[in-house]
Amino acid sequence: MASEEKTTANSLWGGRFAVGPAEIMEKINASIDFDKILYAQDIRGSKAHCRMLMAQNIISAKDGEQILTGLDQVKAEIEAGNFTYDAKLEDIHMHVESRLTEIIGEAAGRLHTARSRNDQVATDFKLWVRDAMDQMDLALKALQTTLVAKAEKNADVILPGFTHLQSAQPVTFGHHLLAYFEMFTRDRDRLRDARGRLNECPLGAAALAGTSFPIDRFLVADDLKFRKPTANSLDSVSDRDFALEFLSIAAICATHVSRLAEEIVLWSSAQFNFIALSDKFTTGSSIMPQKRNPDAAELCRAKVGRIIGALNSLLVVMKGLPLAYSKDMQEDKEATFDAANAFALIIAAMTGMIDDMTVNEDSMTASTQNGFITATDLADWLVRVLNMPFRRAHHVTGTLVALAEDKGCDLDGLTLAEMQGVEPEITQDVFTVLTVESSVASRTSFGGTAPDQVRAQVKAAQKRIE
Ligand code: ARG
Repeated sequence: MASEEKTTANSLWGGRFAVGPAEIMEKINASIDFDKILYAQDIRGSKAHCRMLMAQNIISAKDGEQILTGLDQVKAEIEAGNFTYDAKLEDIHMHVESRLTEIIGEAAGRLHTARSRNDQVATDFKLWVRDAMDQMDLALKALQTTLVAKAEKNADVILPGFTHLQSAQPVTFGHHLLAYFEMFTRDRDRLRDARGRLNECPLGAAALAGTSFPIDRFLVADDLKFRKPTANSLDSVSDRDFALEFLSIAAICATHVSRLAEEIVLWSSAQFNFIALSDKFTTGSSIMPQKRNPDAAELCRAKVGRIIGALNSLLVVMKGLPLAYSKDMQEDKEATFDAANAFALIIAAMTGMIDDMTVNEDSMTASTQNGFITATDLADWLVRVLNMPFRRAHHVTGTLVALAEDKGCDLDGLTLAEMQGVEPEITQDVFTVLTVESSVASRTSFGGTAPDQVRAQVKAAQKRIE
């Protein structure tokens, strides 16, 4: 150990290394710049491991106590901002251990008994992703609460429902908002489900094969609030499914956010004028004084790109890796952290925008007055009252729509005589179904758009949020 060169090799694993790494090796190898945010998880995992080593008499109580106190000090130093990072020490695990050695001396070297950085990093990262999932769930819950409150206020507000972005049938705005409530409910379901699978503790798998020390993995799992230890040591250190699942859920959920964001962009344009966003969620233009740009919505629409990118990136990193750990897996973190960050931003911004938006009720309803939006109601009337087969009713209605188009009016602008010119059996009663109010009120089927249905769905949603 006393040789000249050996002093430049890494102090934690440099036993068989004569000299230190090339400068570029250090650069490509180090992860401390991004994995330093795992410090709390790393220290928590180390403390659990240490307590178990003590309980199993693998290390002495005296050494254990020193390690535990030392780890607390390291944590305090990091949180106080007086901790020195050095790329030579590669990652957060080595930083923590190296500082611990400076503080307590030789006893620090006992902490790594029956452990490897492979099971250590898997544990730290799982703890981090588990927290991120929990925060994601809370953020989605807040978004859902806001959506439901807005839906309740707008249960009676009528706007055109679209298919192919063409006026299709009138719907209520409350109903439209609750569609997103459903999407976020499924996202939260997926989270709960994935969290259950994540919740097994890899620590104690050691490098890949387990350990000859009499460790108690159940004790550690319990300490770290995992359901149980992972069952296969090779899988434990090579599995990143939990991150892939987290990113998949985030990607699907961000896709929902992006669709809502797109609707906000459309709705807030002068052409739609369905909603207005306040100064809080818009920006102006440096050249066009009239502009109020929905930048927050646009960024919510765009950030899904990063999140899908992160998912793709990790899938590509993992595919083709042989068991067990490979350094490739160090690339799991940056993209995941970035995606989680982007995700938190868009959910908070979307919650703010939904809460902030002013609903231009008149404008929404006015835009149902063209596009023959109650044509389906007319066809349904022909079926219900005249007992016409639906296909024929569809044809008759189409002819009436063409007639109204020629005349330059909506369906209720046709006279009864004009209608009877197409279908003699039509009576005055048909006009009762041609208003958008009667149209939405009639759609009382379960999950339908009728205001009463929406109010019932709101009630149910308030319970389902919990
Ligand atoms: N920084 C590494 C990572 O994030 C920790 C694990 C290193 N393990 C190893 N055998 N070199 O993956």
